[in-house]
Amino acid sequence: MTCGLNFDSQLALGSNPTPIDDEREHMPRATTSSSFASSAPTKTRASVLVLAAADGSALGLDSVRSARTAVEDIMRAIGFTGKAGATARIPAPKGFSADSILLVGLGSESTGSDPGPAGLEALRRAAGTALRALDGADAIALALPASTPAAVEAVTVGAELGAYRFLAYVTEDEDKAPGTITVLGPKGRAFTAAHESGAIVAAATNRARDLVNTPPLDLHPASFARIVEEQSGSRKVTVTVLGEKELEAGGYGGILGVGQGSTRGPRLVKVEYSPRGAKRHLSFVGKGITFDSGGLSLKPAASMEDMKSDMSGAAAVVQAVFAIADLRLPVRATAWLPLAENMPGSSAIRPSDVLRMRSGKTVEVTNTDAEGRLVLADALADAGAENPDLLVDVATLTGAQIVALGKRTSGVMGTESARTQVTEAAEAVGEQMWAMPIPEEMLAGFDSNAADLKNSGPREGGMLAAAAFLREFVDEDRDWAHIDIAGPSFNTGSAFGYTPVAGTGAAVRTLVELAKRSD
Ligand code: BES
Ligand code: MN
Ligand code: ZN
Repeated sequence: MTCGLNFDSQLALGSNPTPIDDEREHMPRATTSSSFASSAPTKTRASVLVLAAADGSALGLDSVRSARTAVEDIMRAIGFTGKAGATARIPAPKGFSADSILLVGLGSESTGSDPGPAGLEALRRAAGTALRALDGADAIALALPASTPAAVEAVTVGAELGAYRFLAYVTEDEDKAPGTITVLGPKGRAFTAAHESGAIVAAATNRARDLVNTPPLDLHPASFARIVEEQSGSRKVTVTVLGEKELEAGGYGGILGVGQGSTRGPRLVKVEYSPRGAKRHLSFVGKGITFDSGGLSLKPAASMEDMKSDMSGAAAVVQAVFAIADLRLPVRATAWLPLAENMPGSSAIRPSDVLRMRSGKTVEVTNTDAEGRLVLADALADAGAENPDLLVDVATLTGAQIVALGKRTSGVMGTESARTQVTEAAEAVGEQMWAMPIPEEMLAGFDSNAADLKNSGPREGGMLAAAAFLREFVDEDRDWAHIDIAGPSFNTGSAFGYTPVAGTGAAVRTLVELAKRSD
C-alpha cells in the first residue's frame, strides 16, 4: 500500500523527529482487489487455481469427473485431506488450464448448497488462508464452492483480506503481495453484486488495518484527520475537523485533557453520510488514541509495545461509514473520532486533576492510563445530542477484555436491544462478539471525593466497569452498545484464516452489516 499519508508539517510542531517518508509519496499502495468471472474452474487460465477440499474430496469439480479424480489422486498421494487451515501447492494435472493448484482445507463445516454463518466463515477463512500462502503469485483464480450470493461475498471478503500485506515501510522484497485475484462463481446480477459488496467491505477493512499499522510517529491526531479528509474526497460524505481552539470553545475537557501531554494536539473528526430519504440514523464513535503511553500513569515497556493500535476503534468507525457510503446504503451514518495522543509530557494531566467534560459532568482523573473513556465520553455526548436511532462505540478500552474473553472475542455491553443487534450482525459476518452485562454495583466504584466521578474504577470486571463509566455519558433511553475490541483489533500471535499479524480491522464488517440490516 502506499503510505499516502500526507503528513502534517512536523516542522511546525517543533521537537518531533522527521517522519521517515515526508519526501517521497508514501501512501500505502491500494491493496489487491479482485474481479469476478463465471468460467469453469478447469477452463480458467491462471498461474494458481485455488481449490477447496474437505474429508478427502476435492470440491467444485463435479462437472468434470476426470479432473476431480486426478486432483483427488494427488491428494491421497500427499496425504492432504482438507483440514481447516491446511494448504498444498501442486502442479495442475492434465485437463486444467491453470499452471498450478493451491489446495486449501475447508474443514468440517458444511458449505453445502446454502451455507449458514459457520459455513460462510469457513469459506472466508479458506480463501484468506489461500491468499496468505500466495506471496508473489501473479494471476490467482479462486474456485471455492460458492453457489449463493452470500457464499460469493464470503469468498471475496476472505480472499481480499487474506491478500493484505503492510509493506509501506519495507524497502526490500517490494513484490511480496499477491497479484491479480479472480473470484469464480455463478452467472447473474445477484452474484456480481455480491462480489462488489464483498470487495467494498474488504477494502474498508484493509484501510482500517493500514491506519492501525502505521507507526505513531506518522499517524498522530492531525495526520489522521488529514487522511480522513483525503479519503473522503471521492465519496458523498461530509467531514468536519475540530482543532484545539474549537475543542476549547466547545468545552471538550476529556479530549483536551488526554491530549495535553503531547506536542501533537488532539482533534475531533466527524464524518457524515446522509443520503436523501434515509429513515434510520446510525451513529458510531471510535476511540482514537494514536499512541497510549499511559500518560503520567506510565505503562511498563512491554505493555506499550502495541499501543499504536489504540486508535483501532476510530479506524473502524470511519472506514465503516466510508463503506456504507460506497455501498450507497439508504441509511444515515455518522462516525465520530476523538483523536489524541496520550503522552506524559510536562503539560500532561496529573492523577487527581479534575476535568470538566463536554456533557458538563466533572471527572477526577485518578489514573491517566484510563484515557479512552475520557475521550469517548466527550464524543458520546455529541453523538447522542443528534438523537440517533442506534449509537455504537468501538474501543480498545481495557486489558480486562482480554482477560475475560481472550484475544479473538470482543465484549458487547449496553442496552439489550443494541447488544442483540450488534452480536447478530457480528455472527453473520464472522466476527466473534459476545454480549456482557453492566452490573448495577459497578458504578459505585467510580465515586469520587473531588468530582462527579473518577475515571478508574474496580479492577475486577474491568471491562464491565469501563462500560458503566461510559453509560454516564449516554442518555438513559438511548439504544446504545459499547464494543471493547482490545484483543481482537491487533493480532499479536500468528496469522490465521484471513487475519494477519498486527492490525485486523476488527468491527468494520459488523458495523457495515448493522447498516445493511437497517434499511
Ligand atoms: N488502551 C488500553 C487498553 C488495552 C490494553 C488495549 C491492552 C489493548 C491491549 C487502555 O487505555 C488502558 O490502559 N486501560 C487500562 C484501564 C485501567 C487503568 C483502569 C487497563 O486496561 O489496564
Ligand atoms: Mn490507557
Ligand atoms: Zn488506551
